[in-house]
Amino acid sequence: MAVSPSAATDKFLWGAASAAYQVEGSTTADGKGPSVWDDYLDRLHLAGPGISGAVAIDFYNRDQHLKDIALFKKLGLTSYRFSVSWPRIIPDGLGPVNPAAIAHYRQFISDLKAAGIKPMLTLYHWDMPASLAAAGGWENRDSVKWFERYADAIFANFHDQVDLFVLLNEPSVERATKTLAEAIRDNGKGDFKILPDADHMAVSLKTYNHILLAGAAAKKSFEVHGYKGQLGLALPLFPTINEDGASDADKKSAVLADGVLNRWFLDAMYKGTYPQDVLDMASARGLDTGVQPDDAKTIGDAHFDFLGVNFYSPMYVRHGAMPGDDFSAEQYLPKTVYSAFNGAVRPDQFKALLGRMKSEYGNPPVYITENGAGFAGEDVMKNGKVDDVQRCRYLVTHIAAMKSAMSEGADVRGYHVWSSHDNLEWLSGYASRFGMIYVDWDTQKRTPKLSADLYARVIRGDKVTEADCVARN
Ligand code: GAL
Repeated sequence: MAVSPSAATDKFLWGAASAAYQVEGSTTADGKGPSVWDDYLDRLHLAGPGISGAVAIDFYNRDQHLKDIALFKKLGLTSYRFSVSWPRIIPDGLGPVNPAAIAHYRQFISDLKAAGIKPMLTLYHWDMPASLAAAGGWENRDSVKWFERYADAIFANFHDQVDLFVLLNEPSVERATKTLAEAIRDNGKGDFKILPDADHMAVSLKTYNHILLAGAAAKKSFEVHGYKGQLGLALPLFPTINEDGASDADKKSAVLADGVLNRWFLDAMYKGTYPQDVLDMASARGLDTGVQPDDAKTIGDAHFDFLGVNFYSPMYVRHGAMPGDDFSAEQYLPKTVYSAFNGAVRPDQFKALLGRMKSEYGNPPVYITENGAGFAGEDVMKNGKVDDVQRCRYLVTHIAAMKSAMSEGADVRGYHVWSSHDNLEWLSGYASRFGMIYVDWDTQKRTPKLSADLYARVIRGDKVTEADCVARN
């Protein structure tokens, strides 16, 4: 399907995304405090020996980010989603605000705006101050207050420069990553399960609830201060699907997985209730989720201005192996399915997801806050070029799917590729590249890949199809 030229209207935002810890480096500069990720990688070496965020792609360095912003401008980006680092802004999480960090980000935002690029500021993309992580992080209900205070500092210092704020990024994937980090720390290995297993269900629902409450508290405070802008959360949404021939138990498990990963968040935000099937499962298992009677209503009453959708893939679900447990559900990836690092490649499911936001959740304004892919072995520099044909096709087909959902009424306001650059992919270290811009880890040299050229054409309004993703080497 071709991407319609009408996508390149003035208002629709065409952007790319990144997150502080994955790109900035300079992990002790300007009085920054340690984050839980400095602990994971530099102290505990959970991504392997020598893998550190200390340099990353050197984005904290203004000389470097100015060159990167010039590249963004050349590609035609009209929006850039980035995150600010809580332990830079408030080094110990709760104490005084660090003026050097504020000055740094104010300069960065001015540099973006000078290039005609709208800043989309994410307050929290997983780099929890180490002191707060040690106090239980999101498992501690006090985290709602901690975050509200941090958000107030961000609003006070940036409301005059920024009017698009993503409060929090991907609660369920953050939780799954933390579970994996702790398994590697304790046992040397672990599984990455975004759908929590029985042992992690209670703590997952508990942290999801606290993160949603933290977002609601920040939204309320923004309004009380009378600031102007749009606030939302970036949710990783996973259509939960079965293979052909699935049993009734498999289908039931997919519905429950949808409840835990999608409806738990969306029902609270748009209906002011938590889904009954998940609450019933929690009470049948005797789980202590810490959810209090008015929590979902408080979240619904926040009336977030937009929904940030991070979409990579649907999730295959089947009935798990737990005997006698009706609710046992597990995620898996069928061996025969074409997939990227983050799962099955299914643009049709992206379209279906956006349609669902319209039919089931009142068609909220949506920004695609992340969409992208990486493929093992694809990003190889040859004759000065990187022909990432699979990523190029992934992006073109997913943009076409989004446009098709929009033509059927989905209210999508912007699209951000994950990621602008290759960067530090959390516990996978530097091994999994996701960027449109290739980064040589030794020299920090940048090279836009084939996918960047095609994305620039999409932004210009050219009719582009996946057949245009042709290797140049
Ligand atoms: C998301 C996450 C990003 C990035 C991306 C690629 O879940 O928000 O930080 O890592 O996945 O895997």
